Amino acid sequence: MWSRGGSRILGLVASAALLVVACGGGSDEAYAPPKTGAGIYEASCATCHGKSGQGFVGPSLVDTAVEYPDVADEIAVVTNGIGEMPAWGGRFTTKQIATVVDYTRTRFATGSSTTTNPNTSGPPAPSSP
Ligand code: HEC
Repeated sequence: MWSRGGSRILGLVASAALLVVACGGGSDEAYAPPKTGAGIYEASCATCHGKSGQGFVGPSLVDTAVEYPDVADEIAVVTNGIGEMPAWGGRFTTKQIATVVDYTRTRFATGSSTTTNPNTSGPPAPSSP
């Protein structure tokens, strides 16, 4: 008698938990994605590229403005993904990607800015196989 009551309660708890899982996840209202370059970077990029763009699982982003003299190329890499890095195009709007790319170029880059061509003293671009 005790055990029957107990299992009924357990069943109720289990279905309540299922309901919470079914309704609780993935609600767009609950999660406001960050809008600033720093916010996006820290939320989505820093885990792999390091808080200061120094690199970790992913490569250092310090030289991206040298590697990608045209900012559009870096935006394309982030949008479409490259190698081990997932594509971010489905997660962020074009504007958000441009914002975070701009952030990496202005914040981490060694002495270069977003708009000037930094192609002055950088190492030669590696030839890809
Ligand atoms: C899951 C880990 C991971 C996350 C998160 C991540 N990246 Fe990457 N990223 C990588 C890896 C690994 C590479 C190198 C891929 C390759 O070249 O094979 C890379 C490459 C890049 C490159 C090209 C760098 C180069 O030297 O060519 C850029 C730019 C970049 N990531 C920007 C970003 C931005 C911006 C974000 C956040 C929206 C981000 N990444 C989030 C792992 C990650």
